[in-house]
Amino acid sequence: MGKSSTSRQRLSDDLLDWYDRHARDLPWRVGPAARRGGVRPDPYRVWLSEIMLQQTTVATVMPRFDAFLSRWPNVEELAAAAEDGVLGEWAGLGYYARARNLHACARIVSNELGGVFPDTEDELRTLPGIGPYTAAAIAAIAFDRRAIVIDGNIERVGARLWAIDQPIKQATDQLRAEFDKHWPAERSGDFAQGLMDLGAMVCTPRKPSCLTCPIRRHCAAAAMGNADIFPVKAAKKDKPRRRGQVFALFNDAGEILLEKRPSKGLLGGMYGLPGGAWHVENGTAQVENVPEENLPEYDEQRSDHYENAPAPAAQWKLAGGVTHVFTHFKLDLTVYVAVRPRGFRRAAAHKWFDPDEAATPTVMRKAIDLALAHRAN
Ligand code: ADE
Repeated sequence: MGKSSTSRQRLSDDLLDWYDRHARDLPWRVGPAARRGGVRPDPYRVWLSEIMLQQTTVATVMPRFDAFLSRWPNVEELAAAAEDGVLGEWAGLGYYARARNLHACARIVSNELGGVFPDTEDELRTLPGIGPYTAAAIAAIAFDRRAIVIDGNIERVGARLWAIDQPIKQATDQLRAEFDKHWPAERSGDFAQGLMDLGAMVCTPRKPSCLTCPIRRHCAAAAMGNADIFPVKAAKKDKPRRRGQVFALFNDAGEILLEKRPSKGLLGGMYGLPGGAWHVENGTAQVENVPEENLPEYDEQRSDHYENAPAPAAQWKLAGGVTHVFTHFKLDLTVYVAVRPRGFRRAAAHKWFDPDEAATPTVMRKAIDLALAHRAN
């Protein structure tokens, strides 16, 4: 496509005009009208939303964001919170390393930076939990810095705009270079959010609405008439497999016995169903490509972190299996269910929980839900 300075202006102008009329109303966002009226975004809200959105959809994050914000309305209060409380509020939002980094970042900003978030990409990147994408998003959205923000939605929009015929992962430099040619110096944050909204509402993964697209005339894929073949898919990835078992013990009050995992390691510090180590299985599993998480490798030493007391002698019944795909492996868990036998005494690391209320990692939520369904039958 021609890259004259006029076409450069037009892509961002067309997109920003559309954003002015169609921006989503999101709790962390200062919309275009308010922005023009001089309202500035609160960096704390922008940062918190970006960390939450790293691994979860907007629909899931919205109520969770509000809950977080009413509990900790500013960075000082979050910094002063107990870690257990922050991890509990994070349940179901994905990897707990992120919640720990969130808390660590809040403490640095509050205690060492006078409660003020840095306003450049480079400085933001020095903070825990803030990688290149998040630094760019905060710099653009909170501070209107000209930072190239490329999240999943924006990748898809770009892959179509320039009909990129390679899987995104192999085309990140090309995408960045193309966006760089078109990224406006002014309203950088609105441009980023406009692209996100376009990706969510118009340039959707399947059946994009090219006929109503405000930047259609800039789009190579739309010109070809088949925008939805982009982005080109990467081959499925082989992941190592692990297998384990968990034991869901219920008491007469319908509560479930959970065990606190040691603070280090995968799902560290969270409550989950008791069970043994997750053993490596032969072979690999073909799983859909999931985004790579910036996490430490799974540590075999630490995988035996459950107390490993044998399951109490009870009438264990097989409830079935659940599967969860982590960054570095796919886990199959077999779930057993029983009611508390007479004379059973819980261990120190164990606690009874209301099974519907317990704040647990997603994989454990799946297992608990399966155990509950089995009991109901
Ligand atoms: N996804 C990531 N960041 C976002 C934002 N600020 N608004 C909407 N979707 C997003």
